[in-house]
Amino acid sequence: MSRDIICLLLASSCHLIALTVVSAFAHRQTSADRALIDGHVPAPGLFLADEDIGVGESLSDRRSALRRALGGAASLATASSLPADAVVPTEAYWSLWPALPVAPYGRRRTVMYEVVPGVYNFDQMIGIYYVHVPIRMTVVAVNQERGVAGGGGLLVYAPVAPTEECLALMDRLIERHGPVRDIVLPSVAVEHKVNAGPFARRFPEANFYTVDRQYSFPLDLPDSFLGLPPWTKPLPRSSGRDGGKVWYASEEIEHEVLTVQPGPGSMYQDVALLHKPSGTVLVCDAVFAVTDEPPRVLTDEDEYVRALLFHARDSKDEAVEDSPENRRKGWRRIVLLFNFFFPGSGRGDLGLGPILEALKTPGYKDGWGGWRPFSWGDDEVRDFETFSAGGKPTVLPIIQIILSRDMGELRRWIEIVETWDFSRIVPMHLDAPLAIKPKELRSAFRFLADGESTNSVRFCDEDVEFLRKAEEGPLSFSVYETPLGALRGKPCGLVRPTKS
Ligand SMILES: [Fe+2]
Repeated sequence: MSRDIICLLLASSCHLIALTVVSAFAHRQTSADRALIDGHVPAPGLFLADEDIGVGESLSDRRSALRRALGGAASLATASSLPADAVVPTEAYWSLWPALPVAPYGRRRTVMYEVVPGVYNFDQMIGIYYVHVPIRMTVVAVNQERGVAGGGGLLVYAPVAPTEECLALMDRLIERHGPVRDIVLPSVAVEHKVNAGPFARRFPEANFYTVDRQYSFPLDLPDSFLGLPPWTKPLPRSSGRDGGKVWYASEEIEHEVLTVQPGPGSMYQDVALLHKPSGTVLVCDAVFAVTDEPPRVLTDEDEYVRALLFHARDSKDEAVEDSPENRRKGWRRIVLLFNFFFPGSGRGDLGLGPILEALKTPGYKDGWGGWRPFSWGDDEVRDFETFSAGGKPTVLPIIQIILSRDMGELRRWIEIVETWDFSRIVPMHLDAPLAIKPKELRSAFRFLADGESTNSVRFCDEDVEFLRKAEEGPLSFSVYETPLGALRGKPCGLVRPTKS
């Protein structure tokens, strides 16, 4: 996220920053935690038998299956409740989590699945206050007609935390497709940048590119202070315009960088990368889509399911049954909070009332004392369905605020991507892959339509009210003017609940 987003959060109520700090304590990420994690689980090699990795199959599946087969594993869930001692296995531990102290801290599971032959997603999770969403790395196989011995290899886009589990999964792909040839950090956003350096250092023989306008906040530190290795190279803005050989398999890859400066001193960059053999475009943050089905990275891991049920509560001490419907209910709320902070069908109370209630139950099983600052009204499902539109691609509201500061650059970027031959886009958050063809890409950018004079979103106006007030009010200093103005949606008549 850009500096502007941080400003938005800070000025709105400081709550996410506070949540970050508080949550670290709420989840008691201590050496005791590490010991708990270390105390379970066999070595990774046990799960790396010579099996093929199939579509939708993951190492996580096999571990879960093995745990069940072994019987008596403490982390098994029952049908109606979560295990109090559910743990994440030791090979998923990520010791550098304090660099960005948000969930899941050190407990960084990786779910890998094959999107189409030669394209693999590695999903991990990121979030605060159980607003947990997927964060993704995509790996594509290149030069496969030559075979591994003849020069095949891998291109890695948007690296995630290189845990032992993640690296073991990478080993499987290397064995099948060849070594890592190129790695690219396609964003200046901290959630992607924080893991890119450590990942690149595990593959020093590979080229490592980053978009060229990296910065840090509040101090603009050099790349070496951001953990990026000395062999880091700036990614040319375009594989076409800049010519030359950027990628190891340059005949199979194209890319185009989107660069927008939304406000004084801040920057947004994204990379559309085309993998020609599979007709797949990778994009980091500029496009996304979501349905009410919780993502697999949240449901595959028993411990992560807690987030869904935590938000499915309708009262602070409600014991929510673990059912598909309750998982979807929690996911809908997570998505609305993730996108809007204060969605139109909910009510937020960051005051003392809910905090004092939480202090009464400091031992609440899922942490936070069961703190429940948000309540939901009768329009919650309608709110989500309008937002989701059945999983149609769109732009994250906060990203639209940024992109609408430079419509010319956004148009230029889209016009180039539209000339590519592809049938799917893989974003690095929420659902993936998305079935989008070139002529359908522009529909995700509603505010870019010809004749459009407002910064319109397809969502309910009540949802973007908070962001609009922040943008027009105390945060107006952080972003440049746009002729489109602040975000506008369609009035849906959403009614907030009267109290928490
Ligand atoms: Fe992101």
